[in-house]
Order: sequence, then C-alpha cells, then structure tokens
Amino acid sequence: MGRIYELAPSILSADFLKLGDQLETLERCGVKWLHIDVMDGQFVPPVSFGEPVIRSIRKEGSLFFDCHLMTEEPARFIAGMKEAGANGMTVHAEACRHLDRTLEEIHSAGMKTGVALNPATPLSALTYVLDKTDMVLIMTVNPGYGGQAYIRGMTRKIRETRRMLDEAGYPDVPVEVDGGIRQDNIDEVLEAGASVIVSGSAVFKGDICANVRGFTEKIRAFRAAQKLS
Ligand code: DX5
Ligand code: ZN
Repeated sequence: MGRIYELAPSILSADFLKLGDQLETLERCGVKWLHIDVMDGQFVPPVSFGEPVIRSIRKEGSLFFDCHLMTEEPARFIAGMKEAGANGMTVHAEACRHLDRTLEEIHSAGMKTGVALNPATPLSALTYVLDKTDMVLIMTVNPGYGGQAYIRGMTRKIRETRRMLDEAGYPDVPVEVDGGIRQDNIDEVLEAGASVIVSGSAVFKGDICANVRGFTEKIRAFRAAQKLS
C-alpha cells in the first residue's frame, strides 16, 4: 500500500463563526484529512470541543476525521466519537491506564488507532502495542494550545520513531507530527521521517488556500526528490 503523506489542518485554529466555509475551502484546495483536537480541561488545561461539533461538521464533505484526544482515559469517548463520525482516534499513551485495551476497543468500534506521545515521553511506551497502532503521533509542542513554537529536539525523536517502526516491520505506519509546523520547518520533519503533517495556525492564518498549496507543494517536492535519490 505504501506510506501515506497527508496535510492534516487542525481546526483548533479555525474561525468557528465560519467553520463550514473554512472546511469547504480546505476540501476545495485538495485537503483530505482534518485534525480535530478534543481537550477535556484535565489532561491539558483548556477545554476545546467534542462530539456535538464533530457530528455537525460530519454532515458535509468527505474528509478523514483524524481525532486527537487530549483527554484523560479517552476510552470513555470511543463510542461517542465513532457515532459522531470520527475515522481515526489517536490517544495519548500518558492518558491511558490500559493502552492496549483502549487500542483494541478503537479497532472494534471500526476506527483507525493512533498513539500520541508528549515531548518528554520515551518511545518505549510504544514497544508492546505496535501491532495495534495504525499511526504514531509525535507531539512537537506540549499539547494544549495552537500557535506554539516547534521543539527542536523533537526532530531526533521523529527520526528515531521512523527507524523503530521500519525496523519492527511497520514501514507503512505513518509518523504524524503536531505542533509548531510551518512552511519554513516542514522540510526538517519530512526529512526526519514524518508523513502526516498537522498544522493549525500556519494553515488558518491569512489565505487558507495559499497556505495549503504552500504546504502541499513542499510535500510533493520532497516526495519527488525521494523518488530520484
Ligand atoms: C496542540 C494541538 C495541535 C495544535 C497545532 O495541543 O494538538 O493540533 O492545534 O497548532 P499549531 O500548528 O498552531 O501549532
Ligand atoms: Zn493535535
């Protein structure tokens, strides 16, 4: 099948007064994935939004809903997320007392699984759940807020994650990166091995379509260069 490469704009930085229009713009400009940040005020300080918002934006379009649960014990939300229209559910290893079971339950509900790691969490948290993990999310900021600066030390972590997945026999499991990704540092994360690129503020600030084109052109150029090498 091959590894996927996608830009996943995070709606945390959208203008909620114009959310429908902005999602339409994303789709018109070629976006296939939408990153949806669910925060509970416990795992991270802010509360963002949950099932009702997801359910209503599901009514239009065909984007892949990549739901990032920044909540304590996200297993509580599996049924609700599925019913609201989530396609993938990414949970934090730090927030799950029974990560293995939670991943099984996400699969049983018919969604793709993702495991997210905070910047300080070692990769060893993934070792025994790789066979149940459809995507690894490396946080490149401390979660909770859009618009923060990329943590430079995470480039090495992305590289090590990619290597670990390849060596364990999962070359098609993508590494997603989230936090502080902009057009001026996307090359660095692509070269390190990231292939699902979350971006909030750098997509929604200014001309959304121009921003999306800027990002997707960089992804296209990176992949073209890779095929040549
Ligand atoms: C942070 C969220 C991110 C955030 C990214 O906790 O998980 O998805 O929206 O926003 P930017 O791209 O602005 O750092
Ligand atoms: Zn996120």
